[in-house]
Amino acid sequence: MCGIIAYVGRRIAQPVLIEGLKRLEYRGYDSAGIAVIDGKGHLHVRKAVGRISVLENSLNTSPIDGQASLGMAHTRWATHGAPTEINAHPHLDDTGSIALVHNGIVENYVAIKKFLTDKGHKFVSQTDTEALAMLVGDIYGELKIKNHLAPGTSLLQKSVQLALREVEGTYGIAVICAAEPDTMVVARKGSPLIIGVGKEEYIIASDASAIVEHTTQVVYLNDNEMAILKPGSFRTTTIDDIAVTPVFSQLENKLEEYELGEYEHHMLKEIFEQPTAVANCLRGRAEQKEGRIVLGGVADHTRELVKAKRIILTGQGTAWHAGLVGDYLLEDLAKVVTEATYASEFRYRNPIVEEGTVVIAISQSGETADTLAALREAKEKGALGLGIVNVVGSTIARETDAGIYLHAGPEIGVASTKAFTCQCAVLTLLALYIGRRKFMSQAQTRETIDALWAIPEQMKRILEQSALVKEIASKYCDRENWLFLGRGYHYPVALEGALKLKEISYIHAEGMPAAEMKHGPIALINDGMPVVFIATKGLQYDKVISNIEEVRARGGNIIVVATEGDKQIRRYSNHVIEVPDTLESLQPLLSVVPLQLLAYHAAVIRGCNVDKPRNLAKSVTVE
Ligand code: G6P
Repeated sequence: MCGIIAYVGRRIAQPVLIEGLKRLEYRGYDSAGIAVIDGKGHLHVRKAVGRISVLENSLNTSPIDGQASLGMAHTRWATHGAPTEINAHPHLDDTGSIALVHNGIVENYVAIKKFLTDKGHKFVSQTDTEALAMLVGDIYGELKIKNHLAPGTSLLQKSVQLALREVEGTYGIAVICAAEPDTMVVARKGSPLIIGVGKEEYIIASDASAIVEHTTQVVYLNDNEMAILKPGSFRTTTIDDIAVTPVFSQLENKLEEYELGEYEHHMLKEIFEQPTAVANCLRGRAEQKEGRIVLGGVADHTRELVKAKRIILTGQGTAWHAGLVGDYLLEDLAKVVTEATYASEFRYRNPIVEEGTVVIAISQSGETADTLAALREAKEKGALGLGIVNVVGSTIARETDAGIYLHAGPEIGVASTKAFTCQCAVLTLLALYIGRRKFMSQAQTRETIDALWAIPEQMKRILEQSALVKEIASKYCDRENWLFLGRGYHYPVALEGALKLKEISYIHAEGMPAAEMKHGPIALINDGMPVVFIATKGLQYDKVISNIEEVRARGGNIIVVATEGDKQIRRYSNHVIEVPDTLESLQPLLSVVPLQLLAYHAAVIRGCNVDKPRNLAKSVTVE
C-alpha cells in the first residue's frame, strides 16, 4: 500500500527519493509526490497521478529550483478521496510551510477537520492526512506565539508530538517544516517505519527495500515512538517525549535479492526461486541425518504446542490459503484440532479462545492490518500468539510470542508465490515437530523429512514445463470464467490457483472443493469453459476422476495437474501438466507451481502488468 521514503543528509535528496519511490512501487499505489526543503529554506512540493515515471518526467521537464538535502516522498494507495493530484501526498498545512507524508488512517479526521475548519483553516483535499498536516501547522502556529519551549526543543518536534496525541488510528509519518530546514520528524503507530543509518545521513522508509542500497544498519521504530533527525545526528523519544535508546539492527537481505536479474518480472523470478527458497526454509530445521525437526524459534514453547487443545491459523489472501493447508497438515500429522480462519473475521467475531489455544498469524509481509489485529485479539484473550512471517523485524514478527521465519528472501511480486510454498513448508515442519512428540513414529518423521528435501529438485522439474503451461494459457486466456477444483490437500491449492489468475490476469476464477461443484457451480459449466483439476495420485484420486467426467460431459475443457506418468488421466483430459510424486501431505508444495505459472503466462499474454496489478497492494496495512 502507501510507501514512505525520506532523506536527511548531505547528498542531494531528490535522486535518493525518486530511486526509493521506485523500490516501493511494488507495494501498490495510484499517485506519488515529493517535498524537499532547499538550502534557502524554501519548501518545494511536486505530485503526480499514476506511475512514478510521471512524477519523474514532471521533475525533469520543470526541475525544482535550488539544491535540497532534506526531503520526503510518498506513494499513495487511495483510501480517503480519489487518486488525484490534490489528494496525493505530501500534504501541507494552510500556511504552506509544513509538509507531511502519512501511511495509515486517521480515524477521527472528520472531528479534527471540523475543529480546524471552525478555527478558520482551509482544506483543499478529501484526505484524512491533510487534517493531520493542518493540525501540526495549527499547533506550530500557537506554540510560536507562546514561544516557551525548553531550550533545544524543536517547535516542529513539539507540534508533531502534541498533534499525534489527538490522533485515533494508525500512522507512519514524516514531517518537515520550511522554518526548520535541517530537521525532520518521523513517527509511527501501527504502520512501519525504518530508519536506515548511513554515514552522516538517514534514509527513512516504510519498507527495507528502499533502504538496503544505502545502508544495512537500521533502527526499527516501535509504536508510539518518534525520531528527530538532522544531518549527522538523530534521537528517538516516545510520543510523550520520554527518551528512547535506539536499538540498531542489520538488514539481512542483499540488494540483488530486490533486483530483477535475468527475469522479465519479479513474479516469474520468485516462482523460479522456489526450489532455493524452500531449501533455505528447510536448512537447519529438517535434519535428515538425525531424522528430527529443529525449530529454534518456537523451542521455548514446545510444551504449549504439544499440549495445545486447539490451533488457530489466521491470515489473509494467500497466507490464509497456506493456513488451510496447515489445517490439514496439523490435524493429519500432529493430531491437533486446527482451524484456519480469515484474520478479518476472527478479530471481530468475539472469538472463543480457551486455555490451550495457540494462534498462529501467517503473513509474508508481517504488516497486514487484519492479521496483526487478529493476533492482538488472540493474545488479549490469553492465547499463545505465534507467527509464520517472511519479513524479519516486521510488526507481526515483533508482536508474537515466538515464531518461525520463512527465509524466502524478499517477495516483490504482488501475487505471492514463494511465500506460499515456504509457508506450507514451515507448517509441515511445525506439524512434524508436534506430531513427533505425540504419536508420530521415527520412521514416518524420517520419511517426511526425506520427502521434504526432495521437493526443491522436484520443483525444478515442474518449472522446466513452463513452455507447456504457457501454451495452455495462450489457448484459454481469452475465456473470462475459470474453475479450479481439488479435494483434500488440493482444495486450498484450487483456491490459490484461482486467486493467482484473478489477481494478475483479471480473469474471473473460482476455486472450490471438487465435490462442491455439484452443489451449484456445475450450472456455470458451458462449452469450452476451462476447468482446472488438481488430481494427483492419492486418497481421493478416483473421486476426482468422477468429477472430471461430470465436467467433460458438459463440454468443459479439462486441464489437469496430475502425477508424473499417470496415463489413465490423459483419457479424460484436454491438457495434462505433470508433477512428481510425493507424500500426500506435501503435494501442495508441488501442485501449486503449475498454477502459478498458468496465471503468470495468462497475464503476460493478456498484456497485464504482472508485478503491479491494478487496485492491488502487496501489503494491506489498512482494514
Ligand atoms: C495482499 C497481497 C496478497 C497477500 C495478502 C496477505 O492482499 O496482495 O498477495 O497474500 O495481502 O499478505 P501477507 O503479507 O499478510 O502475507
